[in-house]
Amino acid sequence: MAFDFNTEMKKRQDAVNRCIENFLPDEDGLQKIIIEALNYSILAGGKRIRPILIREFYAIFSRKTNPEIEPDFERIEPFMTAMEMIHTYSLVHDDLPAMDNDMLRRGKPTTHAKFGHANGVLAGDALLNYSVETVTKAFAEDDFSGEDCYEDITNVEWNKRVVKAMKLLYTRAGIFGMIGGQTVDVEKTGKPLTADELDFIYELKTCALISASILCGAVLGGAGIKDLAFLEPLGSDIGMAFQIRDDILDIEGDEKVFGKPIGSDEKNCKTTWVTLYGMEKAKEKVKAYTDDALGILDKLPENEFMKAFVKALAERNY
Ligand code: IPE
Ligand code: IPE
Ligand code: MG
Ligand code: MG
Ligand code: MG
Repeated sequence: MAFDFNTEMKKRQDAVNRCIENFLPDEDGLQKIIIEALNYSILAGGKRIRPILIREFYAIFSRKTNPEIEPDFERIEPFMTAMEMIHTYSLVHDDLPAMDNDMLRRGKPTTHAKFGHANGVLAGDALLNYSVETVTKAFAEDDFSGEDCYEDITNVEWNKRVVKAMKLLYTRAGIFGMIGGQTVDVEKTGKPLTADELDFIYELKTCALISASILCGAVLGGAGIKDLAFLEPLGSDIGMAFQIRDDILDIEGDEKVFGKPIGSDEKNCKTTWVTLYGMEKAKEKVKAYTDDALGILDKLPENEFMKAFVKALAERNY
């Protein structure tokens, strides 16, 4: 059957959504409100691009490492879910009155708009904490001893991959990654920015979680140091194209399709790629970063979906 991107994308999004739902806490207890806010934020929708990246790169590298065995996606579900929890918390906090002060996210009222400011802060914290509670479920049982869980890899080897992927995930989410980028984004709001400063912000606030997704997937699939060095620029190319496209849609998008308020950047006096270089150059740059990403993907086996995915992200309206 011919390859149909929309069908393939929907299949993957459905798989991610099913996996996230399995890990969510029951809405019970005196603290019920915060669990409702956590579940609301993560189930509100979203493209799920980061868990999809984990899944694709896990598949590419596990097939490369062990061609006889089909990738076992169940093993990486805690990582796919944890990544989406971290990403969702970054959005919940990004929308707070102290940051971008936005009321619409994923086509629905933002978490603080629905549950109040304090619960917006706590729901973000809860998602970050719950991501750790979830990701540790990736460890093979019996810690580093006992009978092996999987046919193709010992518990010890698998758990080493889990530790390595966790380090990548939490480093790139932190002060040297997404949080660092958001910090400079906020600090520089309403102030002039140099091209290098803007690149710094985008590399950290957006590319860091995208590259973490690619690298975590690859590591869990058995990628080595050389593979990771080869993949490193891919996260930047995809992430830069993604953030510049986001800036474009913040001006030209349709709120109903985009699911976020149009004009948020202007309202907040943000310097973006569009304000610094103009709309035409911004569109050219999205294409240039996308072409660079496709050049890297050309050198990897079996990734028809990934190539179509990168092209679709560059042209997206959502
Ligand atoms: C929004 O990310 C934040 C940016 C980095 C631009 P997404 O566009 O992936 O948001 P969701 O998950 O689909 O809502
Ligand atoms: C924020 O960038 C990226 C994050 C790390 C949350 P934006 O502020 O442009 O993201 P949106 O447009 O609100 O999703
Ligand atoms: Mg922001
Ligand atoms: Mg924002
Ligand atoms: Mg934006």
